[in-house]
Amino acid sequence: PDLEKWVDEVPRPGVAEPIGTKDGQPYYEIEMSEVEQELHSDLPPTTVWGYGGQFPGPTIEAEQGEPIYVRWQNDLPDEHLLPVDTTVHEEMIPYDIDGVRTVTHLHGGNVEAGSDGHAQAWFTRDFAKTGPSFAKKDYYYVNDQPPATLWYHDHAVGITRLNVYAGLAGFYLLRNDRERNLGLPDGEYEVPLVLQDRSINEDGSLFYPSAVSEDRGGDDSYPEPSIVPEFYGDVPVVNGKAWPRLSVDPRSYRFRLLNGSNSRYYNLKLLEYDESSAETGSDGPSFVQIGNDGGLLSEPVELDDRLEIGPGQRADVVVDFSDYAGETVLLHNDAPSLYRGSLKDSDETKPLPEIMLVDVADSKTGEEFETLPDALTDVPDLPIESVDRHRHLTLAPGSDEYGRMKHLLGNRDQPLGYALDDPVTEEPELGTTEIWSLANNTAMSHPMHLHLVHFHVLGREPLSDYDSETDGVNPDSLESPQPYELGWNDVVTVDPGEVVHVLVHFGEYEGLFNDQTGEYMWHCHMIEHEDYDMMRPFRVVSNGD
Ligand code: C2O
Ligand code: CU
Repeated sequence: PDLEKWVDEVPRPGVAEPIGTKDGQPYYEIEMSEVEQELHSDLPPTTVWGYGGQFPGPTIEAEQGEPIYVRWQNDLPDEHLLPVDTTVHEEMIPYDIDGVRTVTHLHGGNVEAGSDGHAQAWFTRDFAKTGPSFAKKDYYYVNDQPPATLWYHDHAVGITRLNVYAGLAGFYLLRNDRERNLGLPDGEYEVPLVLQDRSINEDGSLFYPSAVSEDRGGDDSYPEPSIVPEFYGDVPVVNGKAWPRLSVDPRSYRFRLLNGSNSRYYNLKLLEYDESSAETGSDGPSFVQIGNDGGLLSEPVELDDRLEIGPGQRADVVVDFSDYAGETVLLHNDAPSLYRGSLKDSDETKPLPEIMLVDVADSKTGEEFETLPDALTDVPDLPIESVDRHRHLTLAPGSDEYGRMKHLLGNRDQPLGYALDDPVTEEPELGTTEIWSLANNTAMSHPMHLHLVHFHVLGREPLSDYDSETDGVNPDSLESPQPYELGWNDVVTVDPGEVVHVLVHFGEYEGLFNDQTGEYMWHCHMIEHEDYDMMRPFRVVSNGD
């Protein structure tokens, strides 16, 4: 449908409330169910899947040092809302069972393995059927890690792209007093914004492709429905509203930005905007980044250029609208689809430049905002001298028995990649520090994500300068991380033809994070890739295991 832009105000997700306690800790029950929701006031209500009856799900407000329990309850219908390709991981997935498989992962959570939402820990309605890694019904989130913008979303093997697209995602904000005392914009001046893209049918229903289009190489030999190589929608949806507008006062705001899209990258900037001519003008206020995936940066970083945010990534930013009283600014995206990919002539790019409009009021009503502190938190170094092990990992192109393109993850022993159910090959030891070198041999960028841990981006170099047979990295010879890649990350973008080196510690470090052992996942966060076939387990082992 030809939707009018900038009609609806961007909603703020509700906040989850515990229903009681368990072992003296807050206990939440959050159900996944099918609901009708208005994505745009000119559209009939859309059938979506929500947590707690809403899309995006209710924000979980958690406090560092205060563990909580959550029972993620599957109340979804028997049939999937979207086309399921039963050839994806058919060796591992019982597609013939009744009900929809779900499991919830707390993305960025430093949590025990049994509560992590392993892709094979899925369960159907009322836990009638469970996957081989299912461990428990009540997930335990210890909340030991520093304050951060986390999020929860579905992670069921083979259908994560569909479950998340249907709506199964929400924010999880972890806070502490130290952060509160920084005087950052809070309350109504702190706004979580999840950016997603959708395609919507005339009747308001969600469209998700069931076949690979010809221009992406699809043909009759492919199964139908077939997983698509990537998904790019033509409607931006922010906090569940299509092309929304946000009203602000001329003062500073804190935005918790999350890219919750399946495959799409955003390269963001605020631009002055003339609504009557629908034309953009000069640069609007800049983003001052104060935090990343894993929490606050050591100091605020003003981004002169665009803010890149790949699928799964978060950016905690402050924007000062004081100089823009009475004006309108546009949240503008110039990232093409197939991000930094080598496009063939036949490939359509599906840009999505206009994301959200911001109306700045003429004058402020609320309290004054002082200024941002110079120092935010201590982000300790991970000394490169302390590295115990160097892993050489590959992002590799491949194809399946139908001739469909897919992507795989491998390592030095098997650069062309492993299958998801091949035995675990990455087994870091608890208490050790590793370099993970992610070498991209494919033709497009991939946002690579590790569960459980946060890492520092050491830097990147061209594949031609990198020798996977030699351990050790000289940081001085690398291209430095981008300004928005400082601090603790759990997703990093690896461009085609390059290797990105990250430093990661497994276990407690400098009073941050905590010791966990067991099996977790690492994967590309373009969910079409994650489902097929860019996901692998890793296992943290302690001496003697
Ligand atoms: Cu947000 Cu395993 O993912
Ligand atoms: Cu990928």
